[in-house]
Amino acid sequence: MGNHLLSIGELEHQDIEELLNRARFYQSQSLYQSVLPATFQNRFVANLFLEPSTRTRFSFEVAEKRLGAQVLNFQANVSSLQKGETLYDTFKTLEAQGVDAVVIRLTEEGILKPLSQRLSLKIINAGEGKSEHPTQALLDLYTMKSYFNEIKGLRVAIVGDIKHSRVARSNTYLLQKLGAEIIYSGPQAFIANDLKGTYLPINEAIKQADVVMMLRIQFERQNEGRITSTESYREEYGFTEERLKLLQPHAIILHPAPVNRGVEMDDIVVEHQQSKIFEQIHNGVWIRMATIERALGGDRRWVSSSKVDEFGIKMNGFSGIS
Ligand code: CP
Repeated sequence: MGNHLLSIGELEHQDIEELLNRARFYQSQSLYQSVLPATFQNRFVANLFLEPSTRTRFSFEVAEKRLGAQVLNFQANVSSLQKGETLYDTFKTLEAQGVDAVVIRLTEEGILKPLSQRLSLKIINAGEGKSEHPTQALLDLYTMKSYFNEIKGLRVAIVGDIKHSRVARSNTYLLQKLGAEIIYSGPQAFIANDLKGTYLPINEAIKQADVVMMLRIQFERQNEGRITSTESYREEYGFTEERLKLLQPHAIILHPAPVNRGVEMDDIVVEHQQSKIFEQIHNGVWIRMATIERALGGDRRWVSSSKVDEFGIKMNGFSGIS
């Protein structure tokens, strides 16, 4: 059967827990690839990136290949989209050719759900305009879970260009669902009126946070309130070396990346021992393996966290999500 993954809102607590547990399982198995069954060797996944990407695109491709699926990388600039073909017809074409799932990144918002209702192939949202980036939020949660047993009550500061950020939205929906407290910080021009939460000055946000999640200025999405000086942005809203002294010893620093070093974060902060940015990227592979597995369905793999799976590994090494 399989499932789309279009937004955080469609995931129940049980779905989130199972995705995290499957990611944990795949991480635990990463050194023993040969023991993984070839369940997906006749399944086809197409990666369709209509916006730039490094991390998400490659981690999906690595994930698909680790699962043994057949991987197709769609090249939009030499596709019939250039000749006026609609996205629906592109999907229908891939479906007719036997593609089981499509991983898509796009600028246009609100079309994935109606598309999904007209197709039998499964759609995974790999970043949709300003609205959602669900697998990023899941891998961020997975990374947080490595450091904090309880998400409930965790204070997460999301700092920077919140208004234009799909990462801020998906993280807010996911973390608030799990009982975390979200605080925001950023310039007036980057306030997101659709998200509920307290805005604090950056020094206060860093001081109070268990997790500081920095965001890149989304220059490509700004048509108003443009930031004109990156130097003054760094001084007023960036995580500078000077601000490291405000960080609590147990706190961690996240960023979905790419990072504009020297703008929203100083080099030394990116490389700091409390920064987990490259761990986030690493964890993206396991979360995307779990997401692809869920999309493709299959005959076995959706085991509950309390069961012993076919490799004899008890899936309770990873605590629950609350
Ligand atoms: N975090 C993220 O989505 O990075 P990419 O744009 O490189 O995929």
